Amino acid sequence: MSPQAALQAKLKERVELSALNTLGVSATARFYIDVTNLDDLRGALAWAQVNGHKTLVLGGGSNLVFAGDFAGLVIRIQMAGRYWEQADETGATLVLGAGENWHHAVLYAASTGYRGIENLALIPGTAGAAPVQNIGAYGVELCDTLVSVTALDRETNERVCLDNAACGFTYRDSLFKRSPGRYIITAIRLRLSRKKPLQLGYRDLEEYLGETLSQELDPLKVAEAVMAIRRRKLPDPDIIPNVGSFFKNPVVAAEQFHELQSAHPSVVGYPQNGTVKLAAAWLIDQSGWKGYRNARVGVHNRQALVLINHSGGTGRDVLELASDIRQSVQKRFGVELEMEPGIVGG
Ligand code: EPU
Repeated sequence: MSPQAALQAKLKERVELSALNTLGVSATARFYIDVTNLDDLRGALAWAQVNGHKTLVLGGGSNLVFAGDFAGLVIRIQMAGRYWEQADETGATLVLGAGENWHHAVLYAASTGYRGIENLALIPGTAGAAPVQNIGAYGVELCDTLVSVTALDRETNERVCLDNAACGFTYRDSLFKRSPGRYIITAIRLRLSRKKPLQLGYRDLEEYLGETLSQELDPLKVAEAVMAIRRRKLPDPDIIPNVGSFFKNPVVAAEQFHELQSAHPSVVGYPQNGTVKLAAAWLIDQSGWKGYRNARVGVHNRQALVLINHSGGTGRDVLELASDIRQSVQKRFGVELEMEPGIVGG
């Protein structure tokens, strides 16, 4: 079979995407393909270009909202594989194919005794999606361990290797998010350590671990603690469809924070480099949205930052709710909330 014929055989038409986005909203892809290697990825992109179709690259579907159907080609990245490089007495580099499940990779690294990503347990999605929004939780961000990203640069059609600095990471942001569509991540490299101190300072984690002595802990125990905390507070997307935090924590100037504090003494904020990162969950909670639900969608009752698709909600239902929340937070606190997931389709 010629490469073109092999590619054609993998292409599907009119594929329902509700099982492929963790918000569980219904949307149809006009064309769809699973890609497991670079040749198929290049072939799929060339096919879309020749036939004049837009493309959408999908990982675990855990950070996007389908506002409607997607009229072009959905390419689901399924590159598998994980292996170690440059192992020495201090650490080793874990290489992950972009399609690897992130949480499984965390458990694998932690159970092998390597430190660095254990606080990022149970974050839904794939390894290839992790750099896009620089995933973070419990005091750790992906950029703390990421060495490099291998990607296909669609401007040149060349494979590139971008080091940590080139990825331009900031809080929930990166080069990949700022130049949407340009890079398709195929693998990531993480430098993990055997010795680096465990990061136990985040309040929830500290409270959960209580009197446990840090010398009794190992990365797997920390990952298990994070899993227990997340299971208590955050809905499992397999049971209650959601995309995690729906908004970023807004960063405001110190003066604005002090003004907010005088009007609302319990406002939650974390100072950082002369600015203050506000807890969006607190703003939403105080605006009365926590636990709100209409017939189809709502706000989680244990973490106000998480929107939920309770029963057959569409992407538009979720986006309408998000817009109502933004307006009420703006009106009450004068703070603009920025959405974290991307909006696609429609
Ligand atoms: N709070 C409320 N009401 C709520 C929930 C929280 O008032 O319903 C207040 C509490 O004062 C709490 C504070 O908000 O101390 C912060 O809450 P939390 O520790 O749960 O963290 P977060 O800032 O809401 C961020 C990440 C989460 C990550 C947690 C833990 C963002 C946008 N979200 O949430 O990431 O798990 O910290 O590190 O930065 C995700 O991105 O999908 C995600 C779940």
